[in-house]
Amino acid sequence: MALRNIVTVGDPVLTKVCRPVTKFDDRLSQLIDDMIETLHDANGAGLAAPQIGVLRRVVIVNTEGEDWELVNPEIVEVSEEEQTGIEGCLSLPGRWGIVTRPYTVRVRAQDRDGATFEVEDEDITARCFCHEIEHLDGHLFSEHCDRLLTDEELEQYLKEHEPELYARRGMMRSAGGRAVSRRSMEKYAEAVRLYETTDEDLQTIAQRLGLVYNSLGGFMRRHFPELLARHKGKATGPKG
Ligand code: NI
Repeated sequence: MALRNIVTVGDPVLTKVCRPVTKFDDRLSQLIDDMIETLHDANGAGLAAPQIGVLRRVVIVNTEGEDWELVNPEIVEVSEEEQTGIEGCLSLPGRWGIVTRPYTVRVRAQDRDGATFEVEDEDITARCFCHEIEHLDGHLFSEHCDRLLTDEELEQYLKEHEPELYARRGMMRSAGGRAVSRRSMEKYAEAVRLYETTDEDLQTIAQRLGLVYNSLGGFMRRHFPELLARHKGKATGPKG
């Protein structure tokens, strides 16, 4: 794995339309691993391939302590209900704006092996899906804002809204010590129970619970390596 440079606004690569991924090979896996490492290092919620200068349709979203790997993602459904909140971007460091997005979003994407899946999520994860997928068509969140916030406005906004947003998301600490939403934790707990008691493989369980397979695989690898080892050979586990 390697850290990549994040390009910032003004670089023409951020305005280009990215090409679909057609080869699901080691090079793609390397790109995804590098994007995850770069995103974690920058402490961001999401990263799109063009932000590291790669014009391919790949995004990573990390909103609830797990990484969502989305290859060739498409938004296939949005709710009428909307959310309005603060948004930033690793390619516009230090700049924030208020953006309205759908409250719930359904995304169809492929995983790093090319398997197609759909995932529906809400609130901040839905916001990140919209933000990152837009990057693949050369758009930035700032296009949705009349203007960006001044430092004073930002400070004021955070003071007024952050505790409320935090409470609404029902954040809690996962076994790994990261912030995860209560809803995700419930889904993961159900996935672990199913994996322990049935012969279903992770892919099937992830699909059934509406989780991203790679995200569930990463969660199992981090928190339940022994359970994974027990399943080895009898069911499809996550990639090591
Ligand atoms: Ni961004």
